[in-house]
Amino acid sequence: MADTLEKVLQRRFDRRSLLGAATKAIPLAAFARHVRGEEPLPAGQPVKVEANEREAARDFRLLFQSVTPNTRDEVTVPAGYRHSQLIGWGDPLFADVPAFEATAQTAAQQSRRFGYNVDWLDLFPLPGWEVENPRNALLVVNHEYTNPELMFKNWGGFDRQTREESAVEIEAHGLTVVEIFRDTAGRWRYLPNSIYNRRITGTTMMRVTGPAAGSDWLRTANDINGTSVMGTLNNCSGGKSPWGTALSGEENFHQYFSNAAGLPDGPAKAMHARYGMPTGAGSYPWARHFDRFDVPKHPNEAFRFGWVVEFDPYDAKAMPKKRTALGRFRHEGATIHIARNGKVVLYSGDDERFQFFYKYVSSGTFNAFDRAANESLLDNGTLYVAKLNDDGTGEWLPLVHGQGPLTAANGYRDQADVLVDTRGAAARLGATGMDRPEDMETNPVNGKVYLALTNNTARTDRDKNAANPRANNRYGHIIEITEDDGDHTATKFNWEIFILCGDGKNASHATFFAGYDPQKVSDLANPDNITFDNKGNLWISTDGQPSTLRVNDGVYAVATEGPERGNVKQFLSLVPGAEAASLVHNADSTALFVSVQHPGEGGKWTDNTADAVSLFPDGKLPNRPGIIVVTKATGSPTIGS
Ligand code: FEO
Ligand code: CA
Ligand code: CA
Ligand code: CA
Repeated sequence: MADTLEKVLQRRFDRRSLLGAATKAIPLAAFARHVRGEEPLPAGQPVKVEANEREAARDFRLLFQSVTPNTRDEVTVPAGYRHSQLIGWGDPLFADVPAFEATAQTAAQQSRRFGYNVDWLDLFPLPGWEVENPRNALLVVNHEYTNPELMFKNWGGFDRQTREESAVEIEAHGLTVVEIFRDTAGRWRYLPNSIYNRRITGTTMMRVTGPAAGSDWLRTANDINGTSVMGTLNNCSGGKSPWGTALSGEENFHQYFSNAAGLPDGPAKAMHARYGMPTGAGSYPWARHFDRFDVPKHPNEAFRFGWVVEFDPYDAKAMPKKRTALGRFRHEGATIHIARNGKVVLYSGDDERFQFFYKYVSSGTFNAFDRAANESLLDNGTLYVAKLNDDGTGEWLPLVHGQGPLTAANGYRDQADVLVDTRGAAARLGATGMDRPEDMETNPVNGKVYLALTNNTARTDRDKNAANPRANNRYGHIIEITEDDGDHTATKFNWEIFILCGDGKNASHATFFAGYDPQKVSDLANPDNITFDNKGNLWISTDGQPSTLRVNDGVYAVATEGPERGNVKQFLSLVPGAEAASLVHNADSTALFVSVQHPGEGGKWTDNTADAVSLFPDGKLPNRPGIIVVTKATGSPTIGS
């Protein structure tokens, strides 16, 4: 067995150094032992090659011809580009899994197939990725939620959903690790039998770490220690650590729970209410089949969700960890930047109207030469929440037990109490409620942090402020944050509006494109997940344009510096019902990977095709949410330029 794996690796990575000439070599046998989960990567080895932190040129040109916004049922890319489907819902991830039959789904099979609705994706280099043969990588994605009306033909509805259908949905959630490669024809494909392929689902066991591990809020009948949770749910935007782990934020976890019988008055009920727990049935009927989703029967189960999960994509056996030091809220994004002093700074948002923007600063420092030494960086540190003042300054307020109002007198016994009820604690500190914080990223060129705020139609003239300047904010905006002295551990920052989204040609609402002529840009609304190319241009995916700009959602790019700063250009248009949920460039920005999330939403899969709103991806039903890759039609020049 051991020989086989070594031979596989040898064939695949026919070179002495598995991590590239620029680093010290890792012996093949040691790497094989790591893949088998027998040991971590050897100490003393840099393991990270991060596209966003590579040497980036100050070249902010975006030369592609903008696509025309449309409502067609086909993916549109600029002239000279091509796209192809890389992988989609149901595709087998293991050699023994048969081809997908959507009318014969089982939970057992779904747990070994690509899941549904990807909201976040990223690439993790495999040996050789950056050096002579930049072809292989691990694609790590999450599966945010499921659409039963699109997954099950003639679905019977909420009240008639079967136990097996619920179990299929639970297995279609979570995350996937899958190896991808660029074949000799330049086409990106996935490997259905890679040793790295893995599914993490709503039933995968994971460990709780950090200050809230073992808290009585996290103890249940099934886990009397409060340290071991079954599954991760509603994984939204995430991030990648410099030590090569994946991070995934649990967002709208509340909707899986049912609370029909209600809870007695008390702190648990109040906390659930702050997190939007339903007071009747939830959005999914799972509680009917699985008790743990029934809040009155298991009042603490929901406290075990709303965290950031970290796991090692290079080790298919490694148990994922819920990192409680990062706080509990509807996490969007877990974006890491290593500060000048080596501390790990992780930004994350709480995606609900009037909720907050957070950052975490580790106590320890990143060790680029010993992967294992970074294991507890996300367990020991300080969580802060942002206050954005009207004068363009801002403060990071520490969520630390015993400081300010976070004391026993106010009901906080310890740091676990602060973290389990992060929302309540942040509100006490006077944090600024934002217009739905979605994704955030640090620009690899100018070091500024960009925060996408997708919309907030509940904001009124009475509660608008400089950082959330519009009442009935249907279109969303993007804020640019400069940490004090460029130090990401600073407790003060400056901020400005980068883009106030909307239709620049429509005088009925104000827009701002960083000073660029609004008549000349592509209209943009509802910014969601974002990423940077290796030149520092910001790439934006959108979620909500069908109801605001009356066009399909898509992907946009904009220069953040230079004379073109603010010139938004549309790069891609998706299909009806779909959100362009996530996007990432490969290391040399010659390919853009985009998630097509919930294509066809708004329709359903029945015997009558007229009930569908899209036939993505292959002209027939069911729709298969998945990942597309966009490249230049002529070889491999950089996307965008
Ligand atoms: Fe899952 Fe905030 O989008
Ligand atoms: Ca998002
Ligand atoms: Ca992102
Ligand atoms: Ca979204």
